[in-house]
Amino acid sequence: MVSFAADIKPLFDQGDIDCMTPQGVILDDYAYMSNKGGDAKYDDHANASHVYARLAGDEKPRMPKGGPFWTQDKLDLFKKWMDEGYAP
Ligand code: HEM
Repeated sequence: MVSFAADIKPLFDQGDIDCMTPQGVILDDYAYMSNKGGDAKYDDHANASHVYARLAGDEKPRMPKGGPFWTQDKLDLFKKWMDEGYAP
């Protein structure tokens, strides 16, 4: 089981966290990243879904802004965390 604390949070570096927290995207916060709330695009877990879409480049600009972009392995791990139910 993929854990947010052990496997996902360490994927974000301090620069990512410092850049995005003032914009309300709190990458290192489990409550934010596992929030069940939906929006106009996603029925549920919109926060994590938008983060994934930005990492994968499905939403633009792709993040982290200017790169280096995540490898497929890191993207797959994040998606596995989502598919397995957002474990803490
Ligand atoms: C919902 C998801 C996200 C949204 C809506 C978003 C949006 C933005 C926006 C609007 C900026 C400012 C761009 C500018 O100054 O022109 C930015 C900067 C940045 N974002 Fe994101 N972002 C998201 C997710 C992420 C993620 C997942 C990462 C890292 C893994 C990331 C890393 C960064 C960094 C490092 C910057 C600063 C770039 C710089 O000024 O050099 N962001 N983001």
